[in-house]
Parts: sequence; C-alpha cells; structure tokens
Amino acid sequence: MGAAVSVDSPVIITIDGPAGTGKSTVSQMLAARLGLDFLDTGAMYRAAAAILIDRNIDRQETGELISAVLGADLHFDWSQDPPTILAWDNPIDHRIRQADVTAVVSFVASIADLRHHMVRKQRVIGSQHPRLVTEGRDQGSVVFPDAAVKFYLDANPEVRARRRVHQLAKRGDVVDLQEMCERIVKRDRMDSTRSDGPLMCPEDAIRVDTSTLSLEEVVDTLERYSRERIASMLDGP
Ligand code: DC
Repeated sequence: MGAAVSVDSPVIITIDGPAGTGKSTVSQMLAARLGLDFLDTGAMYRAAAAILIDRNIDRQETGELISAVLGADLHFDWSQDPPTILAWDNPIDHRIRQADVTAVVSFVASIADLRHHMVRKQRVIGSQHPRLVTEGRDQGSVVFPDAAVKFYLDANPEVRARRRVHQLAKRGDVVDLQEMCERIVKRDRMDSTRSDGPLMCPEDAIRVDTSTLSLEEVVDTLERYSRERIASMLDGP
C-alpha cells in the first residue's frame, strides 16, 4: 500500500456509477489507501427513503417528506470507519440497507427539491472534509464539478446482479438472480432518466468497467490514476 496523499491541499475524488459496481467498497478502500475521508451519498437518499416509510408519509406528499428530512438533521459520525449516518441523532445504518428502503429509494431520489437539499448538504460536507472520496450518481457531474479526479464505474447488469445476490446471501437473504437482474435494470433506468442529477458519466471522468476485474484490481487502477493526477496537479501546469 502506498502512503497517504501527503499534502494539505483539498483533494476531492468522485466515484459515480450504477448499483452493483462495487462503488462503495472500492471508494472506502481508495480513501483508506490515500488517507482521505469517505462519503457515501447513497446513504443520505436511503435515509430519506427510510423516513418516508417509518413516518408513514404519503409518496405524493413530497413537502412533508422534505420537512421531515430537514427535521431529522441527517449527519455522519466521522469518528466511525466508515462513517455512520444518523437521523434525529439515532444511528440508522442498519435500517437504510433493508429491502423495503431499497425498493423505494429510486423514487425518493427522483424528487428534485429533495435532491437540491442533499446537494447543498454534500457541498457543506465537502467544505468541512475537503480531502474526500465521495461516491454516488451525481458527484462528479453536479455536486463537485471541479473535483480533482472523477471516476465512473460500470459493469454489465448480469455481473452486478450476481454480485448483489452473493452479497445478500452472506446476510442470509435469498434472492433469485433473474429477479435481481430485472430490479437492477429497472433501478438504472429510473436513476438515469430522472430530470435532476441523473446517473451519467461526466465527460471528464475515467470510465472503468469492473465486469472482469477483481476488487483489488479496481482499487489498484483507481489508486494509480489518482496518485498520477494529484502529483501532476501539485506540479502545476
Ligand atoms: O448507492 P446506493 O444503492 O446506496 O444508492 C441508493 C439510491 O440513491 C439509488 O437509487 C441511487 C440514489 N442516489 C442518487 O440518486 N444520487 C446519489 N448521489 C447517490 C445515490
């Protein structure tokens, strides 16, 4: 493992891409290797989806949902590794990974006013943690357009479905592969066709297809590229 990126200057690295590309694990590993903080923005949308369900808010009542999310004061506990998310000061990491939350989160993430709130919150986090690997769908395109390094991870839907089924099996949840593949394709479609902050590969991002790569290979590729890019930035034009 190489050393932490030993500069005080801000370094934002964005990692976007669809579900099942290993984004979350890859981002955490990359952040650890480079000595940067790690932000999981999907956790923020998942938290909003959990609030919708647990507060019995009607899907049409988006104003009510946004008020509840504002009241919840979503924030991360940065003393944990990876940082845990809290709503009303209660840790909700376990809750946000449950199947009912996953089933509605794409809908919740398509609410434009909610996205504006999340984007503002993420930029505040970026100013408080300016040495950051942040992962999501719109981090390089919308939230941090001036990020030092941008990645877009992709993989074919079948590979992504297989990874997800495997992940759930480790937790004791059995899900049919075909069904998972259909769910993933549907979620991709919702995430990439919404009008606000759609899932997309920013023009200046490095696209990495992880279909045939191991986790280590993906992280090695991203680490190598990030170190080169950061070194050339520090050298100046
Ligand atoms: O990465 P994930 O599966 O935890 O993301 C959950 C949902 O939130 C997914 O439907 C995409 C959405 N999301 C988003 O729209 N924008 C982000 N920056 C992060 C996640």
